Amino acid sequence: MIFKLPPTAFQRQDESDDADFYSFPRLVQHIDDAAIAAVTQLYQDWLPPNGAVLDLMSSWISHLPEQVIFDRVAILGMNQQELAANPRADDYNVHDLNQNPQLPYTDNEFDAATICVSIDYLTQPVAVLSELSRVIKPGGPLLITFSNRCFATKAIAVWLQLSGHARGQLVAHWIDQAGGFTGADVVDLSSGSGDPLFAVIARAK
Ligand SMILES: C[S@@+](CC[C@H](N)C(=O)[O-])C[C@H]1O[C@@H](n2cnc3c(N)ncnc32)[C@H](O)[C@@H]1O
Repeated sequence: MIFKLPPTAFQRQDESDDADFYSFPRLVQHIDDAAIAAVTQLYQDWLPPNGAVLDLMSSWISHLPEQVIFDRVAILGMNQQELAANPRADDYNVHDLNQNPQLPYTDNEFDAATICVSIDYLTQPVAVLSELSRVIKPGGPLLITFSNRCFATKAIAVWLQLSGHARGQLVAHWIDQAGGFTGADVVDLSSGSGDPLFAVIARAK
């Protein structure tokens, strides 16, 4: 289905510089243990061992399965202290994707990419997803997860109008718009109590 959202859909209550909002580290869990376990299981199922993984919109925790070794884990986010504290990261970039959706990586640099509980903060999600299709090798998975928690003042308006599966359909629509991916399946990985957890899974073409 093709539909075009108005520019107001991508506006936020707080349009101040994201660098200010993320200027201090938040070394916290943004979802509960069961939801994190669901993310980790998804990664166990989909991320290629010994591969190069990009965790976009990252922090001090990437939810990667402990027993799986990756050749490289690259992370990108807004707060230097959070990123430096991530024990799985081999390298990090402080980079505001709302200022510049272009990713600081070369074509086909990664075997897979993840975005956990963060896609709702992107004001240009299609541009970022298009960039992801460039940096993920053909066939590599893109795993986007989200729950029902967020920094509401920094989430885009359309996200706050939707919930659950409909948010997944929105992300799948953005993936279609970005091009460069096959599939965009929305799955409910909620444990049944506590924080819900949804995933959108696609593969780079
Ligand atoms: C709710 S936290 C989630 C962090 C981590 N992915 C996790 O699962 O705990 C949202 C993250 O999105 C990132 N983020 C928010 N706005 C961003 C932007 N404009 N550009 C890049 N990253 C951004 C921040 O670095 C922040 O750590």
